[in-house]
Amino acid sequence: MKVVLQNLTKKFPNRNKGVRSDVIAVNNFDMEIPDGKLVSLLGPSGCGKSTALNLLSGLLKPSSGKIFFGEDDVTDLPAENRGVGLVFQNYALYPHLTVRQNIMFPLENLKGAAKLTKAQMQEKALEAAKLVQIHELMDRKPNELSGGQQQRVAITRALVKMPRLLLLDEPLSNLDARLRLQTREELRRIQNETGITTIFVTHDQEEAMSISDMIIVMKEGVIQQTGRPQDVYDSPVNLFVAKFLGTPPINVFAGEVKDGSLYIGQDKVCTVKGAANKPVWVGIRPEGFELDENGTLSCSLVGVEVMGRDITVISNNAASESGAIRAIISAENRVDTSAPVVRFNVKSNKIFLFDKETEARLDCEIG
Ligand SMILES: Nc1ncnc2c1ncn2[C@@H]1O[C@H](COP(=O)(O)OP(=O)(O)OP(=O)(O)O)[C@@H](O)[C@H]1O
Ligand SMILES: [Mg+2]
Repeated sequence: MKVVLQNLTKKFPNRNKGVRSDVIAVNNFDMEIPDGKLVSLLGPSGCGKSTALNLLSGLLKPSSGKIFFGEDDVTDLPAENRGVGLVFQNYALYPHLTVRQNIMFPLENLKGAAKLTKAQMQEKALEAAKLVQIHELMDRKPNELSGGQQQRVAITRALVKMPRLLLLDEPLSNLDARLRLQTREELRRIQNETGITTIFVTHDQEEAMSISDMIIVMKEGVIQQTGRPQDVYDSPVNLFVAKFLGTPPINVFAGEVKDGSLYIGQDKVCTVKGAANKPVWVGIRPEGFELDENGTLSCSLVGVEVMGRDITVISNNAASESGAIRAIISAENRVDTSAPVVRFNVKSNKIFLFDKETEARLDCEIG
């Protein structure tokens, strides 16, 4: 089922004394979430991700705007009638109930024609548990499970009614790094198998990039960019998005466009077509550097980190706005670590220019 948001806004009254302005947690969302896809809502803490999810679930009422599930306007539909499965940021299982009873819980309150017999409930619970591969744990209590298993029970409980829409609020946040990786692959598999439109909230860009069909990058309640993860990474609309995606993060320099060339400090780094003469922010991805003894960008060498397949060359440049520069190059390169200076050429598709005031990406051709 596709989901459409129209000018969706949620304001909370500001409780600070003397402050009159409201907090706009979700600001004028206008977008379509395609049917059957896994979409990530990505942004820093406090940007409005949980609020957006709770508007979709019906737990919060919007201040203005509309929500459509398919063609149906659900803006005023109560949460229990929306057919939504929700895993909360702090997923809570009922400690006194077994895994089976926890999973069956959402089925117990079905009314009228939807009402199920005990046997039907048990069957549905088992079916959902098999999908998530926790069917062998059905008689245990939550405190007899690992964190990852508990997390999967919470996901199963959200799935058991076969919702039209699955909403997951940072469902992997309490897991260690390895389990996190495993569970996110599981989630991708379950989503593929069920085809349920899923919205996954995270502040972890790597997690979002790795499992999503589409990402929505948010900042302070406002959508910055939506698109396929690779497209957003390769073509960020502004400096915020460029900085938010990628590990190690993009290197940012103060630069200047002058008569068709880009300067970083005194170095004439590359040619630029279609940009006016003015100071700019320059973003260069870590993988955008090539070692070259006659390279156009010179930096003072700090050191080299060897990581097997790649090496990271760490260097300084007075124009850097993001601290030490991290350049990732193939381990086949040899770097003379005793040299005071390292010179790079920059790959044109890995360098972006941004307006100094608005921080919007400049539309220009880099050579
Ligand atoms: N009930 C509320 N009353 C007032 N302000 C609220 C309320 N709920 C959230 N906010 C504010 O709205 C903004 C967005 O909060 P939200 O919980 O949606 O952020 P988030 O992106 O989910 O953050 P996190 O990654 O930390 O979970 C924050 O500034 C928060 O303080
Ligand atoms: Mg949140």
